[in-house]
Amino acid sequence: MISVAIMGHGVVGSGVAEILTTHKKKLFASLGEEIYIKHILDLREFPESPLADRFTKDFDDIINDLEVRVVVEVMGGLKPAYDYVKRCLKAGKSVVTSNKELVAAHGAELLAIAKEENVNFLFEASVGGGIPIIRPMSQCLVANIVDEIAGILNGTTNFILTKMIEDGMQFEEALTLAQELGFAERNPAADIEGHDACRKICILASLAFGKHVYPESVHTEGITKITLDDVKYAEAFGCVIKLIGKVKRLEDGRIDIIVAPMFVPNKSQLSNIDNEFNGIMVRGDCTGDVVFYGKGAGKLPTASAVVADVVDCCKHLKTRKFLYWADGNGKNIISTEQSVTAMYVRAKGSDVISKAENIFGEISKIEKDGTPDNETAFVTKEMPYGEFLEKADLLKNSGTEILSTIRIGDL
Ligand code: HSE
Repeated sequence: MISVAIMGHGVVGSGVAEILTTHKKKLFASLGEEIYIKHILDLREFPESPLADRFTKDFDDIINDLEVRVVVEVMGGLKPAYDYVKRCLKAGKSVVTSNKELVAAHGAELLAIAKEENVNFLFEASVGGGIPIIRPMSQCLVANIVDEIAGILNGTTNFILTKMIEDGMQFEEALTLAQELGFAERNPAADIEGHDACRKICILASLAFGKHVYPESVHTEGITKITLDDVKYAEAFGCVIKLIGKVKRLEDGRIDIIVAPMFVPNKSQLSNIDNEFNGIMVRGDCTGDVVFYGKGAGKLPTASAVVADVVDCCKHLKTRKFLYWADGNGKNIISTEQSVTAMYVRAKGSDVISKAENIFGEISKIEKDGTPDNETAFVTKEMPYGEFLEKADLLKNSGTEILSTIRIGDL
C-alpha cells in the first residue's frame, strides 16, 4: 500500500479523491499496489464526505508523515502552494500538481529540487486538463526537435469565441453564459486577458526548448476587445478567431512566443476546436504535425491526468523520471516587435484602402455584407510587428481611426 496526501479539496481535488476511490481496482491492476489517501488538506469542513476522517487543516500532518510518499497539490495559486510543494520535495516526497501558475512561475526551481532530492515532480494536468501533452512531449516525441507548438489552451475563451462565431452572441453575453455553465471562474480575468493560456504555453515552451520561459517575458493579449464585426470579417476572410498560444523555434535558435487572438484559417486543424475544448499542435522535425484534442478543464478530466501522475510517481518511488528544464533569463526570446506576422486591420475614415496601400504596400481588402458606412477592413502582408505598428501610426496620422487589429495566424 502506498500512502498519498491531497492538498486541496476543490473541484479538481475532490475529483482526484473520487477517482482514487471509484477506480481503486483499475489502479491496483496497473500498479500492483493499493493507493491509500491518508490525508486531505483543506481549511473547510467536509462532514458528509466518505473520507471525512482523513481531513486535516494542518500541513504538518502531511510533511511530518514519513509514510506519505506522494503529495498532490491541487490548491491553485502560489500561496501557500509554492512553499508547501517545495517543502514536500525537500522532505523526499514526490509531488503531483495541476497548478499551472505554480509551474509557470517556479517550474525550473522545483524541478531542480526534485532532481537534487531524487524524487518526482509531475504536472501533466497543468496544461490541457485531461489531454495528455506533457508526457507525450517528454517521452513519445523526445526524438524530435520541436519546431513549433500552437494551441487553443483555454476552454473559457474558446467557449466565448465559439458562441460569438456560431450564435452571434456579444462578448459579455457569452461570458455570462460561460459563467452560468461553470466554464469560467467567477473572476474570469486570468482567462479572458490571456494569462491562463500564457502560463500553459510557457510550460510547453520550457519543456520543448529546455529553458524556463517566464510569463512576464511573453507578449499576452486577451479577447476582451474582439467584437462581432471582427468575427464577421474573419468569416469573410475564410477564418475563425481563436485565442492562440504559440511558440516557434527560429533558425538562430531563439524562440518567438506569444498569446493573442488570431485569425485561424478554416483549413487549420485548430479552427475546428470549439466550445470548451482545447487543441494543441506540436510540430516535430521527425513526426511533422501531431495534434492533441480534448477537454482542457473540468473536474474528472483534470483529475484523470493528476491520478495518472500519482500512479507514475508510485511506479517510480526509487527512481526519478527524467523531466527537467534549466532556468531561463529570457535572452532566447525575440521581442514582439521582431515577430513577423500579417495583420488584419478594421478602420474608419475616408479613402482608407488607398491610404493603406500607400503605407503598407500590397493589402487584401475584406468584403462583407452589412459593412457600416465609412468602415473597411484589410489584411497586410507579413512584416515584423514593430514595422506594422509604425505603419499603423502613419495610417492614424492620415485621419483614419483604427478600430481593431488582429494577427493572422500562420497555422
Ligand atoms: N480556466 C481554465 C480554462 C481552466 O478555461 O481553460 C483549466 O486550466
